[in-house]
Amino acid sequence: MKNALEIVILAAGLGTRMKSSLPKVLHEVCGEPMLGLLLREISDAAVNVDFPCEIRGINIVVGHGRNLVMDRVRALQEAGKVRVPVVFSVQEEQLGTGHAVKCAIANSGGKSSESGTLAVLNGDLPLFTREALADFVRAHLGAKSAASLASTEIANPGSYGRVIRKGGGFQGVVEHEDATAAQKKIREINGGVYLLERATLLEALGGLSNRNASGEFYLPDVFAFARKKKKKILAHEFADAGILRGANDMMELAEAQKILYARTAAKWMREGVFLHDPETIRLGPSVRFGKGVAVAPNVEIAGESVIGDGVKIGSFCRLVDVKIGNRTLIRNGTCAEKSVIGADCAIGPMAHLRPGTRLADHVKIGNFAEIKESSIGAHTSVAHLSYVGDAEIGERVNVGCGFVTCNYDGVTRDGRRKHRTKIGNRVFIGSDSQVIAPIEIADGTYIASGSTVSESVAESDSLVIARAKQVTKPGYAKKYR
Ligand code: UD1
Ligand code: MG
Repeated sequence: MKNALEIVILAAGLGTRMKSSLPKVLHEVCGEPMLGLLLREISDAAVNVDFPCEIRGINIVVGHGRNLVMDRVRALQEAGKVRVPVVFSVQEEQLGTGHAVKCAIANSGGKSSESGTLAVLNGDLPLFTREALADFVRAHLGAKSAASLASTEIANPGSYGRVIRKGGGFQGVVEHEDATAAQKKIREINGGVYLLERATLLEALGGLSNRNASGEFYLPDVFAFARKKKKKILAHEFADAGILRGANDMMELAEAQKILYARTAAKWMREGVFLHDPETIRLGPSVRFGKGVAVAPNVEIAGESVIGDGVKIGSFCRLVDVKIGNRTLIRNGTCAEKSVIGADCAIGPMAHLRPGTRLADHVKIGNFAEIKESSIGAHTSVAHLSYVGDAEIGERVNVGCGFVTCNYDGVTRDGRRKHRTKIGNRVFIGSDSQVIAPIEIADGTYIASGSTVSESVAESDSLVIARAKQVTKPGYAKKYR
């Protein structure tokens, strides 16, 4: 039987240093809120068989902008990204991290037990990992510690709390604001992750005071208190400072983002993805790749994108929430969002796939083609300069250069502002043609170049010519010269 581990995340602070109205923990790193990244790691730990403890739930302390924070967490839960039960504890006034933990305990479901271990984590830890939590838990349990914190050494310890050691023995934490000039030189910092035995924590919280430079109840004061009570305390040092990096202002947020992008890129390169210039490639933390994928420089892939085996992605592409089938080629400068692309397709250069695009296998979308809310059948080609919106195009259709689905007439009819186009299989659309929606074009229709087709074509294999008749007047050119 594994020991139970209660998780408390502190997320009630405003984050004054962000100079932003958004609660700090909702600021995004690599496209995901800091709190979401942390929740995902904890949730992964909870379902991981190798994790040394049993995690039954997460208690999140909210206060500043609490509705925004709770809504975002619920959205993450609905998206299946948080797989453990979550409860929220409200901290009405942000009186400090020690006070925040008190609020969490008061709301831990009337639990009267004095025993058990709590993991308390600051909400602004976008780079913390479940592996690091597992290491830390093992160290805490192994040392039979009553109160442990995760520390690391950093070159510029800035505003972090400093870890005080005397003759190698851990004494406690001094906050930056309260530190003497000599203490400010200490480079071992408190990372804001704690493992606390409940009995020790409860006793220490009772003794917290806010007589300090910030007038707040500091959670790290628990360590000096426990030490005085002859309890065993531990500062567990992590070699990789990146893991414990907090993000308190925009500069730290950008630094954290850089580290996470580098970490994600390294992870995928170890899995065999060839990133031509990893420092210029931004892969979101939820993106997944198949085997034998290559990505050119200056590419961003975000959201829940899934990239199939053997896909090649050219430079300056931005792909968000896209699913790409095996062996497809995405050429330079393509933008795609909320789209499904089949196998063996060739997209771009400079293609724009807007939300709701669904491409079957062997589809070709060429330069300066925009597709929106449309499905396109296998072996169909939209090779140059076209707009396809709200359409269903069949298989083996050839869409010539400069085709437009005229889907918008500026008027709302039957509650709709956009009208649908349906084009059958094997249709040939000559260059510079338009179809005026709503409209249906039967299988095998041949539309002559330069046609503006405004009436549906019901019969298969018809020829449609909808353009002005040509007039040729011999010798007339000379008159103009
Ligand atoms: C805190 C630690 C510091 C440590 C650093 C690591 C304290 C007093 N200091 O400083 O030793 O080096 O983290 O990153 O804990 N919060 C609440 N309620 C409050 C105040 C804060 O929920 O009343 C939350 C915040 O939303 C945040 C977390 O607690 O997620 C930490 O608060 P923050 O203001 O970032 O503390 P730091 O100054 O970074
Ligand atoms: Mg902080």
